[in-house]
Amino acid sequence: MSRWSIKDSERIYNLNNWGDDYFSINKKGNVCVHPSPHSKYAIDLKVLVDDLIKRKITPPILLRFMNVLEGRISSISRAFKWAIEENGYPANYQTFFPIKVNQQRQVVEAIADFGKKYNLGLEVGSKPELVAAISIATDNPLPIICNGYKDNEFIETILHANKIGYDITIVVEKLFELEKVIEFASQIGIAPKLGIRVKLSSRGTGKWATSGGEDAKFGLRISEILAAIDLLKRKNLLDNLQLLHFHIGSQITKVDKIKNALIEGTRVYAEMKRMGVNLRYLDIGGGLGVDYDGSKSSNFSSVNYTVDEYANDVIYQVKNICEEAGVDCPHIISESGRAIVAHYSVLVTNILNTYTEALAPDFESMLTQTDKLSPTVKKLLDIYKSIDRHSLREDYHDTVQLIQEAVSLFKLGYMTLQERAIAEWVCSKIIAKMNDIVERLKSIPEEMQNFPLSRRQTYFANFSLFQSIPDSWAIDQLFPIVPIQRLNQKPDVIASIADITCDSDGEITSFVGENGKSRYLPIHRIEPEEDYYIGFFLIGAYQEILGDMHNLFGDTNAVHITFNRKTNYKIDMVIKGDTVTNILKYVQHDGNEIVKKVHNKLEQRVSLCEISIEERSHFLQLLDKILKGYTYLWD
Ligand SMILES: Cc1ncc(COP(=O)(O)O)c(C=O)c1O
Repeated sequence: MSRWSIKDSERIYNLNNWGDDYFSINKKGNVCVHPSPHSKYAIDLKVLVDDLIKRKITPPILLRFMNVLEGRISSISRAFKWAIEENGYPANYQTFFPIKVNQQRQVVEAIADFGKKYNLGLEVGSKPELVAAISIATDNPLPIICNGYKDNEFIETILHANKIGYDITIVVEKLFELEKVIEFASQIGIAPKLGIRVKLSSRGTGKWATSGGEDAKFGLRISEILAAIDLLKRKNLLDNLQLLHFHIGSQITKVDKIKNALIEGTRVYAEMKRMGVNLRYLDIGGGLGVDYDGSKSSNFSSVNYTVDEYANDVIYQVKNICEEAGVDCPHIISESGRAIVAHYSVLVTNILNTYTEALAPDFESMLTQTDKLSPTVKKLLDIYKSIDRHSLREDYHDTVQLIQEAVSLFKLGYMTLQERAIAEWVCSKIIAKMNDIVERLKSIPEEMQNFPLSRRQTYFANFSLFQSIPDSWAIDQLFPIVPIQRLNQKPDVIASIADITCDSDGEITSFVGENGKSRYLPIHRIEPEEDYYIGFFLIGAYQEILGDMHNLFGDTNAVHITFNRKTNYKIDMVIKGDTVTNILKYVQHDGNEIVKKVHNKLEQRVSLCEISIEERSHFLQLLDKILKGYTYLWD
């Protein structure tokens, strides 16, 4: 058999196809992160995690690679710049980062900072998001687009903010909002910067297809747009309507859906221009997808186009339609969120080392006492000894039947617990042997296609699925998961990844594999005392903010890292994860009060001579340590 190489690991985790050249495997067999695609410089994730642990920052750790974030902003802007040059497009492009995708202050601040070069703006959709964006725009002036439903307070705040110098465009999602905006603008004495969201009949694809289409939750129907134009004309405010917006959903997997929406949206723009509306911007919303599984297909976790193709299609379609209609081309705005932030964050955590071989019964010696074995176990043992590729199919059927027989005999009281355990153990040996044979077959018999699954083990990882990758649980989205070390060795186990919540849903059973979706993760057998880590990749979009507090695990440690030529990397910031005290506060439990109550109880027991003073003090020490400590596991 040929030796395992890192190329084999790249292949089985499909790393080169989803990594967009930001990730690779080095000669040591560790996953690396590159500051920019194809860069010869790289940060070794295993070395980084070992160094962080030396600094007492323990897993799970959310690693945020700030160079990657900057790289994504620049590659989207660059793609549009090229498309504009290529097509001779007579207007500009601007990205507005939708902060719903990741509202963490340090992240949005970094995006705003990197985005200065590209005239980047922020998109918000709620009052808290508006306030966060205003705060950022105070230090670093940038334009804001405000989508979403708005009440009076929301509208009034935007208009007052405009008056004192913030650049905020208010996008009307419902007709009644427009009436309110006009009323408040006249009271405040400000000319509002207005946009309108149109409800297109075009839809996206996949889980978010309902964000578009005529029954979409947001936007104005064409008849309502005409009513809005009429109202604005009557109020002498038509010139204030400068932006037309549409959004047909996130993670649009098929490029033809994007083209359809563009054609329809640009036609609406062109017709409005012909009616005398002074539109200057076409905001095409989000939807630029991420190839999570690397299949470059229209699968839900993939996309069948590239960023360059997307930019080119946008510019080409808009130009064509505007030229045909004889109207000026608009400045293009996109609200790409996922495509900007997905790549830059990686969650690394340890697999809980549950090495227990020493505790396993000595089955080998039990098998030598053949007179004590049940007939079922003896038959299984015969299969194990004689199995080869010619008898594979028959032996497989017999094994399935014999293991069912063992369970029935046990239920009826004809088999002891030990005999059932031996039957299970022999069966696992048969399956391992069969799997070696199946792996070498050119064509695998139908009933054995899923054969490896019967060998799948459950590996427990120190994280909460609900906190760190909720979309894996909620909508079955695939995220690449890869061990970050030993990738120069053949993975000898296949596993599902279970988290540490007490929820049977907290398990990942779908992975990115060599041929798209796989039902297991190839992984290594963990050596005794080994610290073994896996990375969850492309999790920067939506996951942090959608994450919930199931079992009260809360936020993980987060570390901002930039590439540094001298020391390889520099830690810019450490944001400590939730402590037990923090997380209890969310659910109205007060740490001090808990200590006080327990303290009283302990003193009472000491006074009754039920426990010693040492026991009392030791328990209080433990309680204090746990309250101040991280919610995740680490010894
Ligand atoms: C109005 C609007 N703009 C932008 C986005 C961001 O979309 P994406 O992350 O797919 O780019 C969304 C999210 O669905 C949205 O609702």
